[in-house]
Formats: sequence, C-alpha cells, structure tokens
Amino acid sequence: MVAIAGEDLHGVHEGYGQTWAKAILMGEHSVVYGHPALALPLHDLQMRAWAQPIASDQEPQLSALDYEGPLSESGELFGGLRRAVEVTLDFLGHSDQRFSIRTESDFPAGRGLGSSAAASGAVVRALLDAYDVRASHEQLLELTNQAEKITHGHPSGLDAATTSGELPVELERGAMRTVQLRGNGYLVIADTGVAGSTREAVEGVRSRLEAKPEVVEQLLESLGDQARSAIGNLETGQMEPLGASMNQAQELLNALQVGHAQLDALVSAARSAGALGAKLTGGGLGGCMLALAANESDAQRISEALLAAGAQEVWTHHMVA
Ligand code: MEV
Repeated sequence: MVAIAGEDLHGVHEGYGQTWAKAILMGEHSVVYGHPALALPLHDLQMRAWAQPIASDQEPQLSALDYEGPLSESGELFGGLRRAVEVTLDFLGHSDQRFSIRTESDFPAGRGLGSSAAASGAVVRALLDAYDVRASHEQLLELTNQAEKITHGHPSGLDAATTSGELPVELERGAMRTVQLRGNGYLVIADTGVAGSTREAVEGVRSRLEAKPEVVEQLLESLGDQARSAIGNLETGQMEPLGASMNQAQELLNALQVGHAQLDALVSAARSAGALGAKLTGGGLGGCMLALAANESDAQRISEALLAAGAQEVWTHHMVA
C-alpha cells in the first residue's frame, strides 16, 4: 500500500497489528454464565492486520479472507471488524480519518479458534500503531470486546484476552488470571472443515436455557465443575485426570446441543488412537476439536488418525511447564 500524495495526513502512517489463535481447553459456553474456563494462546497461528490511511474522498477498502471490496459493503461476517475500526478511531479521537484494512491469517475462520477476536484485536492494534499510540492492556481488551459484541452478542472476553495474551488464561465471573502449567502434554487440534457459527451456538444455548432452565443450568454447572478440576490438574501436571475431564465435557457439550456428527467422528478417532481425552473446542456446531496426547509419538499417531478420519487440517501444540 502507498501513502497518498496531496493530502496532509497529520503524521498518520500505515499501521500494523498482530494477534494469534486460541484454543479453549475447557469451559466453553458455561463461561458465558460465569463458570470457569481455560484457554491457551496458539502463538504459531498468527493473525496480521494492516491499516492504511486514505484521503477523505476515497472509499475505505477491506481485504480479508475471500473478501476484496468496500469496507462498508463487507457484510455481516465483518461486522465485528468494522466495529473495531469505529471504536478504535473514536478512542483515538480521529473518527474522520479513513482507513483501508487488510488482514492475513494462518488459521481458518469460523472454526472456534478465535478468528473474529483475533482479527478485531489485530485491527485495533494496527490503527493504534498508525498513530503511534500505545494503549493499556485493559483498553485493548475493551476495544476488542466492543467488536466481539457485534460478532456474537454476549462475549465472555476469553477470546479477546487469549488471542493477544502470552500465557494460558483462566476466566471466572469476569475475573481473569494467567495460569502456570505444570507437566508435559501435547494438544492435537483438528478442523472438521465444517463452519460453526459461535453466535448461533451461543444463542442456541441461551434459548434452551430459557426453555428448560433446570436442565440446562445443571449442564452448565457440571461443565464448570469439570473445568475447575481440569485447571487444578493442569496446575499440578496430572494429564490423565485432565483427559478424563475433557471426555466428560464433550458429553455435556453434546447434551447442550452444540456438537456435530463430524466432531464426534474426530473425537472417537482420537480416543481410539490413544488420546487421554478429546472434545470440541470453541463454539461448536462444527469447527475444531482437540485431543490430549501424553507424548510426541502419541500426538503424531493421533494426528494421523484424525487426518484419516476426515480432518481438514491438524495442528500440534506442545504444552510445557
Ligand atoms: C467461543 O470461542 C467460546 C464461547 O464460550 C463464547 C464466549 O466465551 O464468548 C462459546
């Protein structure tokens, strides 16, 4: 992208921002209702964004995923990203300045890996960088969460925190803390290839909660209990009970009706190949699953089994102390 001749851009220049993918290990959905959850940043899967200032008579453009065209016509999928531009320019006091935005990602969208929060977070950072402004961690999270509200209504804040954080994050009743892992394990993450809408999944759980409060509250409570004991196991390095909690969580998430047949197929392939536990990750209704492997050779065998069972892509993440 080139700078514009003939217009005084008041020192603003092209800005760059970077975030990454996340995987929720335990507690998706129940975290929206105040129960604990733990998510891990996946630093190898990056999201990059560039914000190019343009003249006031030019139309802001967006280049992201398969979309190339005017930002204003980029549709529902990019509603959160447009909001990220709006709230960040408001924050900066430069609502009149126009920007074209470009994003590039190492991981797929709509698969529970936090792509919407990662894209919004990267755009927020790119715009701040364009003005050489540094915001506090809290301000960055707040701006990203404003965008996430457009994307899926009631974000817990976990995605925004983990897609830009260095360490695993536990969130419970709005309070976040970073978690120090003990022990040694591998997470094998596999993409079903089926796009799952987090918004649809979150709204589905909410409407079932309204329809059958006792049943659904109990499921959310049990998911919270499994997450709590899994976090304890991670902090003391006990991988086998952690795997058992993951298996329990998968049953509970299916009962919440956020599962998918292809997720079940990959979960059972991973377990047959020796995973200590396996479950969906993120919003569900498709998207990704993750399996816990005790060591590198098990992780390799599980990856191969997942690809043979139809996974579109597989990534391995080494969880080290
Ligand atoms: C989505 O990655 C995780 C959910 O728990 C929603 C949220 O935490 O905002 C389903």
